[in-house]
Formats: sequence, structure tokens, C-alpha cells
Amino acid sequence: PLVSMKEMLQTAKDQGYAVGQFNVNNLEYAQAILQAAEEEKSPVILGVSEGAARYMGGFKVAVAITKSLMEEYGTTVPVAIHLDHGSSFEKCAEAIHAGFTSVMIDGSHLPLEENISLTKKVVELAHIHGVSVEAELGRIGGQEDDVIVEDAEQAYAIPSECERLVKETSVDCFAPALGSVHGPYKGEPNLGFDRMEEIMHLTGVPLVLHGGTGIPTKDIQKAISLGTAKINVNTENQMAQARTVRKILDEKPDLYDPRKYLGPGRDTIKETVIGKMREFGSSNKA
Ligand code: G3H
Ligand code: ZN
Repeated sequence: PLVSMKEMLQTAKDQGYAVGQFNVNNLEYAQAILQAAEEEKSPVILGVSEGAARYMGGFKVAVAITKSLMEEYGTTVPVAIHLDHGSSFEKCAEAIHAGFTSVMIDGSHLPLEENISLTKKVVELAHIHGVSVEAELGRIGGQEDDVIVEDAEQAYAIPSECERLVKETSVDCFAPALGSVHGPYKGEPNLGFDRMEEIMHLTGVPLVLHGGTGIPTKDIQKAISLGTAKINVNTENQMAQARTVRKILDEKPDLYDPRKYLGPGRDTIKETVIGKMREFGSSNKA
């Protein structure tokens, strides 16, 4: 069933695992992710960025694809469809009215007071509709679609500010930027685990780790032990898909039927997602 992230993440936090948010770029991603979740008996979050929604034809199309596939597959595991890095109240409202079950409002570039008031407004609307909300503080580095943060602008979230934001807004989960990066890492990630622990104690809500691509398993496990209940992965699936498609097209220069390269690309995404679900501990938890 299509559900919000609230219960899913609370259960994950209580039981010591994390639910993956896998970003959807088109039909094949939705197929691969939903198939992986059902096979692994894992709860799952389909992340849709504003850029990806534009590419697919809008929020309603993303919801329609998700719902139709779930019906066709007879999906039994809990699935949330979540707006990734929502840029404004209006975009969050649009996603909620299109049938999203969860939204992120990313006010991380704003001064604290403005981030809090914006997040609060989104929570008020979302909770009327039973939709969960994720907020962010600090600046996650790298680039994902429209969200670009230069190295010099990267910033670790400040625990006392995180406490204020979570308490004043009643968000359902919270993403403190603690050194993770969108896209590939330059060298090893340097995650602020001391702050993560402090933020877990101060806020009490399930924490979210963005930039899941390229984080070593030991760091994933440590983050989960410190209250991280949602991990976002996008780039890794894209790279895996591209590798497969590139190989097939290189090997067979005469091939043109998209099903013959996008199909294997989809299988590669599915395998990658299954690997992540096992690593995050969410397999057999649905
Ligand atoms: O919001 C999406 C994630 O943070 C994705 O990060 O592309 O580095 O895996 P990633
Ligand atoms: Zn992100």
C-alpha cells in the first residue's frame, strides 16, 4: 500500500535499520525499485525530485506510474512516494495535491528563522492530508538536479538549531547535513558522527542521510546505530544503469530496440537496490 513515511521510519528507528529512498527518474526506475522491494519484502521510499518530475511529465504522472505499477504487481510492502528536496511551499502543496504521501521541504539555504517558518507551513498542510514531512539544516555538498552546493558553502548542521527546528515544526523526520555529498565523493566521506549522536538525542525523530552513494558500509552501520532511519540513494543506480547500457550499445553497434538496452539497464538498477536494502537491513521487514 501507498503510505506516508511516518510509521515506516519510526519502526525502522526502533528496530535498528534504515529504509532506502531510491530516486525515480523514469518508468524503468519505478519498475526496478518496486520489484526489488517486493522481492526483498522491504518497505521502500520512491524519491522524486522536482527535476525528475519535470522529466516524467509532472507530479501527477509520477503518482500515476507508481500507483499503476503497484496495482499491476500486487505490491504488498509499504511504499511512500516522496518529494525530494522540495524548493517551496507551493511545490510541496502541488505534490501533496497530486497524491504524494510524503514531502521534503529543503529550506537549508535559508536563515534558521525562515527555514523554521517555511517548514512549519508545509507541516500544517501536509499533516491535514496525512502526508509526512522531512526538513533539512546545514548544507549538503555536491549537486543533484537543481540543488547545487559548492565545496566552500558546505556546512555541518548545528545541533542546537536542529533541536529548535524539529521541536518548533513537528516534522516527521530530519536531515542534518553532516558531511555527506550528492554525487560521487572526492575521497572518503567524513561524516560528523559526534553531532549525529547529539542530534539524535536532542530531536528524537528518525534522521535522514542524503548522498548515500559511495558511503562505506561501516559508516552506514554507524549512522543507523545513531538514529539514521532513512538513506537516500540516486547516483549509484544511475551509474549502474549507465554502465550496463553503455556496455550493451558498445558491444552491439547495430542494436536500436530500446527494450534491449533499457531492459537490462532496469535489471541492473533492481540488483543495485536489492544490495542496498540488504546493506540497510530493511529486507524482510515488511
Ligand atoms: O536526495 C537524494 C540523495 O541525497 C541522493 O544522493 O545521488 O549521492 O546517492 P546520491
Ligand atoms: Zn539529497
